[in-house]
Amino acid sequence: MPAPEIVINGDLDELISHAADLFVQIARDAIVRFDSFAVALAGGSTPRKLYSLLSSDDYRSALDWSKAAFFFGDERNVPSDSPESNFRMANESLLAPLKAELAQIHRWRTELADPATAANDYDQTLRRHCEAKARGFDLVLLGLGPDGHTASLFPRTRALRERGRLAVANWVDELDDHRLTITFPVVNRASNVVFLVTGIEKASAVAEVLEGEFRPDDFPAQLVIPENGSIYWLLDEDAASQLHHSI
Ligand code: 6PG
Repeated sequence: MPAPEIVINGDLDELISHAADLFVQIARDAIVRFDSFAVALAGGSTPRKLYSLLSSDDYRSALDWSKAAFFFGDERNVPSDSPESNFRMANESLLAPLKAELAQIHRWRTELADPATAANDYDQTLRRHCEAKARGFDLVLLGLGPDGHTASLFPRTRALRERGRLAVANWVDELDDHRLTITFPVVNRASNVVFLVTGIEKASAVAEVLEGEFRPDDFPAQLVIPENGSIYWLLDEDAASQLHHSI
C-alpha cells in the first residue's frame, strides 16, 4: 500500500476547499475512465461543510453530478428524517441542493424491521453495485472518532473482524445501540480513501492511528489499508497537533 498522503491546513476553509478539490478530481477521473462515479459518504458533523461547498455554485458545475452514485459508509439506527441520520445530513447539504435523482441515492433503509434486516438489505445493494461495476468505490470518505473509530467500526466490536459481509449491524456497547456500517473489505477495495478529520479532540486518535503501535482493536482506523487504492488524511492543525513523524 502506498504511504498515506497527509495534508495539514490550519485554515479550516482552505482544508475544506482542498477536500472539495480532491473529491472533484477523483470523481472526474472516474467519470473519464468509467463514465460513472461511486462514493460512500461519511457521516457525523465534519463533512457537512464539505458537502455544502460541493453543492454550492463554486462546485455545482465542477462535474456531471448525474454520473454519481451516492452511498453511505454508515448510518445510525434512526429514521432517515431523524436529526441524527447521516442520510438526512448529506441530503440537506449535498443531495437535495444538487437535485440528485432518487436512483442515484442508496441510503440505508432504517425503516425496515430491525438493524439486521437493514444491514442485509444494504449488503445486497452493495453487491449489486459492485457486481454491476466490477469494481469497488471510487471514493470512500471517512471521519475519525476520538476513540479511533471510523464509519461505525468501533473499538472492540464484532464488525472489525467481518471479512465476508459488505454491510453489518454492529452492536456498540458504548452507545447501547446498533450502528449500521460497511465493513473493511468494502473500504479497502476502494480506489481512494479520504479521511477528513478536524478538532483537537481527535489529535490523540490521529497520532495513534498514524504513528502508534498497531492496535486495531483499540484504533480500528488502523485497519484501513486499501489493497490497491490511495489513502489521504486531510487534517486541520488541531487534529494533527500530536503527530511527530508522519508529516
Ligand atoms: C458517524 C460517522 C462517524 C464519524 C466520526 C466523526 O456516523 O458519526 O460515520 O464515523 O465520521 O464519529 O464524527 P464527527 O465528524 O461528528 O466528529
